[in-house]
Amino acid sequence: MAVDPASLIIDLPDYPVPGVVFKDITPVLADAEALAAVVDGIAGRFAGRGVTKVIGAEARGFIVGAPVAVALGAGFVPARKPGKLPRDTYAATYELEYGSDALEIHRDALTPDDVVLIVDDLVATGGTVRALVKLVEDTGAQLAGMGFFLELAFLNPRAAIAEVTDAEVFSLH
Ligand code: PRP
Ligand code: ADE
Repeated sequence: MAVDPASLIIDLPDYPVPGVVFKDITPVLADAEALAAVVDGIAGRFAGRGVTKVIGAEARGFIVGAPVAVALGAGFVPARKPGKLPRDTYAATYELEYGSDALEIHRDALTPDDVVLIVDDLVATGGTVRALVKLVEDTGAQLAGMGFFLELAFLNPRAAIAEVTDAEVFSLH
């Protein structure tokens, strides 16, 4: 029987701040079968939808997003923390379960012809995704949907996301 990737997650109470239960997915990444199940699960859901680009946020969105892009035959667009990209960027700020931050993409990373899938390891408050939606919209590209390994449903990310887009939200767990 194949390994259930969710069974490998380690919960860490009060990290990085009191009251947050941190989901450590590094054991999932380290397990070849589990990692493939996550990538194939997200890519399988969006196969055949004409996705041309996957966008993922630094850092864990890179780890899951890039292999999903390869599986879909799409390119990958890194959304980076401020000051990391060398050319003209679009920027978006957002709130996290523990703090706030900003993300940037190169202005020419997406065009209105692109069909874009947002991928991340985990959606919690939805703040990161909302920033990514804004960045995709800045470029005029079309948003196909978003796929995650984990959804912290008790933080109600779907309501936060629904305020900014009606694109499909899919999570494996
Ligand atoms: C984590 C995770 C998501 C985000 C989800 O990234 O990888 O991108 O938080 O939280 P949200 O739905 O409340 O926005 P984090 O910002 O901790 O950065 P990291 O990937 O560099 O660890
Ligand atoms: N990103 C936002 N909230 C998180 C959590 N509880 N565990 C891991 N990553 C997160």
